[in-house]
Amino acid sequence: MRIQILLQVIMMLFFHSSSGTKISYNVQSYGAKPDEKTDSTKAFMNAWAAACASIKPVMIYVPQGRYLIGSVAFWGQYCKNKATTIKIEGTLVAPSDYRVIGNTGNWIKFERVNGLKISGGTFDGQGAGLWACKTSDKSCPPGATTLAFYNSNNIVISGLTSLNSQMFHVVIDGCQNTKLQKMKISASASSPNTDGIHIEGSSGVTILKTVIGTGDDCVSIGPGTSNVWIENVSCGPGHGISIGSLGWSMQEPGVQNVTVKTTTFRGTQNGLRIKTWARPSNGFVKDVVFQHSVMVNARYPILIDQEYCPDQKNCPGQVSGVKIRDVTYQDIHGTSASQVALKLACSKANPCQGIRLEDVNLTFKNQQAQALCSNAVGTSYGVNKPESCL
Ligand SMILES: *[C@@H]1O[C@H](CO)[C@@H](O)[C@H](O)[C@H]1NC(C)=O
Ligand SMILES: *[C@@H]1O[C@H](CO)[C@@H](O)[C@H](O)[C@H]1NC(C)=O
Ligand SMILES: *[C@@H]1O[C@H](CO)[C@@H](O)[C@H](O)[C@H]1NC(C)=O
Repeated sequence: MRIQILLQVIMMLFFHSSSGTKISYNVQSYGAKPDEKTDSTKAFMNAWAAACASIKPVMIYVPQGRYLIGSVAFWGQYCKNKATTIKIEGTLVAPSDYRVIGNTGNWIKFERVNGLKISGGTFDGQGAGLWACKTSDKSCPPGATTLAFYNSNNIVISGLTSLNSQMFHVVIDGCQNTKLQKMKISASASSPNTDGIHIEGSSGVTILKTVIGTGDDCVSIGPGTSNVWIENVSCGPGHGISIGSLGWSMQEPGVQNVTVKTTTFRGTQNGLRIKTWARPSNGFVKDVVFQHSVMVNARYPILIDQEYCPDQKNCPGQVSGVKIRDVTYQDIHGTSASQVALKLACSKANPCQGIRLEDVNLTFKNQQAQALCSNAVGTSYGVNKPESCL
């Protein structure tokens, strides 16, 4: 047996050094079975350990088929190489019993990884059982994020599909320099807390050409995030693209330099949203550009909500301390599903400053839509339908 593996390794090295490509580790050589039944978690971990120990750039290859994977963490802090590619042609499937991963926080987690590319692949979180539990009266586990990156740098994810996550589909937390492109994220419109991509505490996040339909925010941006670029993203169903919720804590790092460009919202509960708790906080949002968006029956296409206090719990009678300034809405057009197409409900204590509305054209059932502003200061240019309330 040992000799067999040794021969396999020798052949693999020989083949790859002679063909001049990267060293490649096929998860099936580590025992992964594409039968959806055999637990392949260990095999994936062992392939990762081998890749991690290599001093040269490496590729982990996941051939076609369905691989059953339990909760797993891929750690990078002791890896010798800073260029790992995981090429996935198959599907990773979570255990069908949601309780198996439901309390683990994350289904597939990468932590302290530097230089990782994930290309292709489908991640099937099998979340429907947990969603059903959550909408009944039963007590249920919180659920796991499908794919999480913590404290990692230089990550590129391309062509990946995430289906039916128990909780968030993708989380980027404490990362520098992350690029996500050509992704598809999908869960039912009624699935609870299945955010598409959640970012926080990170800098340099780019999301391109991605299609997201889910039961919560398509993209949510949490505290301590800067330099975000989102382009060519379509959202729906879902709750739109949201900066927030922010301002839960008194001491909270802010959000700055966010560009959201060429996006489409179809039947979403919100469009472009900034949302803060009505609580004291020293947080902030500044330098945000929302540009070239098409709304197709989106409720509240443009929304700043600084009065967030669900069920009037934890914040009654308080106002948001989060300071919002320099937010541009440019070329935002289409149809609103609510008569109020534009609502800027800013904080009484900290009015929004430097709001810029330019070429906003939103209609409601072929009629005039309405704009509502409170505590918002700024200027409007070009077309403004509904008429600017600044
Ligand atoms: C804002 O973020 C973009 C990337 O999204 C970056 O290219 C640009 O340099 C940042 N601007 C500032 C002033 O940091
Ligand atoms: C986004 O889409 C537009 C229109 O289809 C295209 O011109 C542009 O190059 C795309 N941008 C990126 C970054 O893919
Ligand atoms: C606003 O949008 C409507 C519907 O798309 C269009 O008919 C109208 O010409 C637009 N108005 C302006 C001033 O661009």
